[in-house]
Amino acid sequence: MTDTPCKITVTRRLPAEIELRLADLFDVTLCQDDRPMSPEDLIAAARDSDVIASTLGDRLNAEFFASAGDRLKLVANFGAGVDHIDLKAAISHGVTVTNTPSVLAEDAADMAMALILAVPRRLVEGVKALEAGKFTGWSPTWMLGHSVRGKKLGIIGLGRVGQAVARRARAFGLSVHYHSRNRINPHVENELEATYWESLDQMLARVDIVSVNCPHTPATYHLLSARRLKLLHPDAFVVNVSRSEIIDEAALAEMIEKGQLAGAGLDVTNPSPTVSRRLMRLPNVVMLPHMASATRESRLDMGERMLINIKMFIDGHKPPDRVIP
Ligand code: DGY
Repeated sequence: MTDTPCKITVTRRLPAEIELRLADLFDVTLCQDDRPMSPEDLIAAARDSDVIASTLGDRLNAEFFASAGDRLKLVANFGAGVDHIDLKAAISHGVTVTNTPSVLAEDAADMAMALILAVPRRLVEGVKALEAGKFTGWSPTWMLGHSVRGKKLGIIGLGRVGQAVARRARAFGLSVHYHSRNRINPHVENELEATYWESLDQMLARVDIVSVNCPHTPATYHLLSARRLKLLHPDAFVVNVSRSEIIDEAALAEMIEKGQLAGAGLDVTNPSPTVSRRLMRLPNVVMLPHMASATRESRLDMGERMLINIKMFIDGHKPPDRVIP
């Protein structure tokens, strides 16, 4: 980088501690409004910045990189998912991209596990029934759900979050199955007592619960297509804390409506932030507003990790979390 001070633009409000640290360390323009910047404002900011500190609401597509000008050198994303960034366009314009993958895995896995429990134990239905005054006293036959103990969990993508889900699932008495692009290290597989399925189709035909923990890429768009969802048995259900685009939501809704699937637990909706009213109407679907990493701890760690990536890059070192497409 040059000797002139690096200019950093932050596209969203971040936790106050992180904004203070950024202002302390760098020449930074902090965001005043807590809403995504328009494409025009993003381009204007990029033309005047060495670093854009982005979040998942920013559409950093080919047009953005083509119009960003020569000054922009780094996109430091606050978050793990980078499906809003055109990585090939970034590379072809000489822009490095970093993310914050490691620090939010445990909290994201907690949310996946919460949904794995909430759907079969009818947690949200129970709360709603109570609030609606429908609870008239304990009954041997009211609000019966299903145990998770002894069920087979099929995890799609056994990366950091997937492995953290697997550890929790073992503790709840589930057996762990997984499918991923690459089979994981045998020591980790043994430690998790996880069964690898090279064929996703075959795994889906065997499991009771599916947890989506792979990133959204062109290869995983609608990975759970209508055809694949039909491989699941009617008592099975699906949990997703990754990205909504990985599941064909219309097919999912139709199958749950017809009783061909037992439900779903979705932290992500398509297209975010629009919510599928059709899914939300279903009592056996638990929907959340993209909250899996929403703890103070994770958000502070994500900010610190983003700071490390920016600092290393500015100091002329390779940042630890470079994203390679
Ligand atoms: C991510 O990091 O991509 C999550 O979806 C938001 O924390």
